[in-house]
Amino acid sequence: MKILVTGGLGFIGSHTTVELQNEGYEVVIIDNCSNSSTEVLKGIEAITGKQPIFENFDLREKDKVQDFFSRHDDIAGVIHFAASKAVGESVEKPLLYYENNISVLVYILQELQKKNKTNFIFSSSCTVYGQADELPITENAPVKIAESPYGNTKQIGEEIIQDTCKVKPNLNAIALRYFNPIGAHPSAEIGELPIGVPQNLVPFITQTGIGLREQLSVFGDDYPTEDGTCIRDYIHVVDLAKAHVVALQRLLSDKNTSNYEVFNVGTGTGSSVLEVIQSFEKVSNQKLNYKIVDRREGDITAAYANTDKANNELGWKAKSSLDEALSSAWKWEQKVRHKK
Ligand code: WQD
Repeated sequence: MKILVTGGLGFIGSHTTVELQNEGYEVVIIDNCSNSSTEVLKGIEAITGKQPIFENFDLREKDKVQDFFSRHDDIAGVIHFAASKAVGESVEKPLLYYENNISVLVYILQELQKKNKTNFIFSSSCTVYGQADELPITENAPVKIAESPYGNTKQIGEEIIQDTCKVKPNLNAIALRYFNPIGAHPSAEIGELPIGVPQNLVPFITQTGIGLREQLSVFGDDYPTEDGTCIRDYIHVVDLAKAHVVALQRLLSDKNTSNYEVFNVGTGTGSSVLEVIQSFEKVSNQKLNYKIVDRREGDITAAYANTDKANNELGWKAKSSLDEALSSAWKWEQKVRHKK
């Protein structure tokens, strides 16, 4: 059975490709390599022994999207990762984000709606909740006014899919609202490859640990939390990847209760920035050089998932601990840096 993974050379896309291949699916990746490299294909093959079919083109080119689906009329499901994802960059370049994250989604859905039945998994984000009023966050929590164009594209993306599913019963979709993906495949053959200065906490920590960065800046310790630093739900990327396979199988086996469903994908546990640092120091057996600085604009105080729906309806639960995730991130960082 052939599954299309858009953005399959990216951080979550590559880990999901591995889990799909482990389950026996044939994977076709479309990636324009704007935020990844074909080296990732070697890493995937090193893990599974199988290289996915790879097509290198930009999904913003509508005619190429149409051509792809005319050549691959046996796609049983699509997992759509391809999107721009840097919150800060989205504020500076909103049109880049609306074109890449919205137009591309429309082009893909226009092709899928032509099929008799198709299954679509959408990469969404807990960012749609903003600062939720209640913690842990359930799927019924209100979607807040987006704090960034990036977050807005995730909200708009969900609405586009929902509206399409309303008039296209043949389109079955699940939106997965990720919390904070971290870590790397335990083989250290694939992992997170941020280009330039990492915006996210864990890659900045591991790059500081390896000596690539001088010092980690902790963005504020005056939040209303136990230790004053922000709380997030850090989920191992392999657990997250497995959630995509389970969601796809739910649709392939017609177990979905409606043709548009939403699931929070997190561990259900919140960790503060200082707790993440402590976890890193434990797994790496070294002190991390960091300093407390001012808050980062747009950061919310706390977000962690209520995972009851994913656990009970999707039949999926995150298995890895924060230490295991940090340990895999550190192993990957050491391998990548020593290869350079
Ligand atoms: C986590 C915590 C920072 C860096 C964003 C997007 C989300 C998803 C993941 C794409 C915060 C603190 C961070 C640093 C720090 N993006 N921090 N020093 O902002 O929760 O989520 O990335 O899929 O949609 O919103 O993740 O890792 O940037 O920050 O103190 O150098 O770490 O203040 O409290 P975030 P993050």
